[in-house]
Amino acid sequence: MTTETHDSEHDPFAEFDAAAGIGTVRDPYPVWAELRAQTPVFAGPMSELFGIDSMDEALLQQPPYTPLTFDAVQQVLRDGETFSSSGYADTIGIVFGHSILEMDEPEHHAYRALIQQAFTRKAMETWEAEIVQPVVDRHIDAFRERGSADLVRELLFPFPVTVIGEMIGLPTDDLPVFHKKAVELISIMTDIEHGLNASAWLYEYFQGIITERRAAPRHDLISVLAQAELDGQQLSDDEIIAFLRLLLPAGAETTYRSSSNLMFGLLSNPDQLAALRDDRSLMPQAIEEGVRWDPPLTSIGRTCTKDTVVEGVLIPAGAPVMVCMAAANRDPSRWDRPDEFDIFREPKQHMSFAFGPHMCLGMHLARMETTVAVNALLDLPDLRLDPEAIDVHVSGLAFRAPSALPVVFG
Ligand code: HEM
Repeated sequence: MTTETHDSEHDPFAEFDAAAGIGTVRDPYPVWAELRAQTPVFAGPMSELFGIDSMDEALLQQPPYTPLTFDAVQQVLRDGETFSSSGYADTIGIVFGHSILEMDEPEHHAYRALIQQAFTRKAMETWEAEIVQPVVDRHIDAFRERGSADLVRELLFPFPVTVIGEMIGLPTDDLPVFHKKAVELISIMTDIEHGLNASAWLYEYFQGIITERRAAPRHDLISVLAQAELDGQQLSDDEIIAFLRLLLPAGAETTYRSSSNLMFGLLSNPDQLAALRDDRSLMPQAIEEGVRWDPPLTSIGRTCTKDTVVEGVLIPAGAPVMVCMAAANRDPSRWDRPDEFDIFREPKQHMSFAFGPHMCLGMHLARMETTVAVNALLDLPDLRLDPEAIDVHVSGLAFRAPSALPVVFG
């Protein structure tokens, strides 16, 4: 994915996508299905089976264990004591700082309780009316008269970043550079120098804003975090900055990819798109099916802290674990026809938002944003894939999304 914000020698969006397997790995599901049929937990390097150098695996001291079945994935994610999140400190933590992602209990629980104060039902309602709906409308208005668009580039890629920027309370003009820095941050595995520079840049940038908000609070997220208090404890500048550095990749990259995958599923199944257009009460189950069927983020990392048997497989103490949520979501012992996108299937817990203590803090926000965007798109008359478009598809190994969604309407 490229935008106007990159310089000519260095395109962090393209580098990040390449390292994540976007454009190179088209369909990892048959490989996962074959492995899953052999064992619930695969031991050994995974990315070489797909012919790519994985950014995550490159940093591991030893080959990972990969839980693949629903039960194995759930067991690992539910048990944060045995399967620690602390390994992120040596990877993405280098640039995020000590963020919630790498915390174990009891620190994690205390910190999460403070952060959660910014994500109330009331906040969600305000964000929907004051930020998400106007941002979505603005993007769609820019192509409404044309009768055609690339939904990824013109709506689904830019809107979640804009939403998070506005939630945080950033000046609109800063958004492009902010997004670029955020992508550079998570490209740390392929480009350490740009990652560290971006981390330092964001520290200074956020610290200036936090100082201002501590002096004169507004209604934005930074002000709420600066004032959050629990049992006499408040968040330090460093803690707030680590959270803000995490927020953009955690909230924007995921939502752009998940809403794109959902729209791909709908556009390539016009009968389901028509059913949803005519009955919007199907929206929650359509969103869950989209995120089950092709999650934006396929795997997350843990470290096993003591010898543990998972579904009959011994994972030794100290072993890195790459939990494959995407494989769990297509476990045939839990879902019939798991490879099919079907918004009418009975809703069941999937693993795309993780599970247990670190279950996604932003999932209600992601669902709300997706509802607003998809509703607005379904209001475009006779929305359909551009019949001239060739081979529109989702790709990627670590992160998955279509690179374009050309549509026509009207
Ligand atoms: C469809 C969209 C999304 C998906 C699939 C998703 C997925 C995930 C997953 C799998 C985790 C667990 C990570 C781990 O433990 O290693 C997570 C955690 C998290 N997500 Fe999301 N996410 C999405 C949207 C969002 C949004 C919009 C936000 C914005 C607030 C957000 C904020 C977070 C945060 C702060 C955590 C860390 C929670 C913790 O460690 O306790 N996510 N997400």
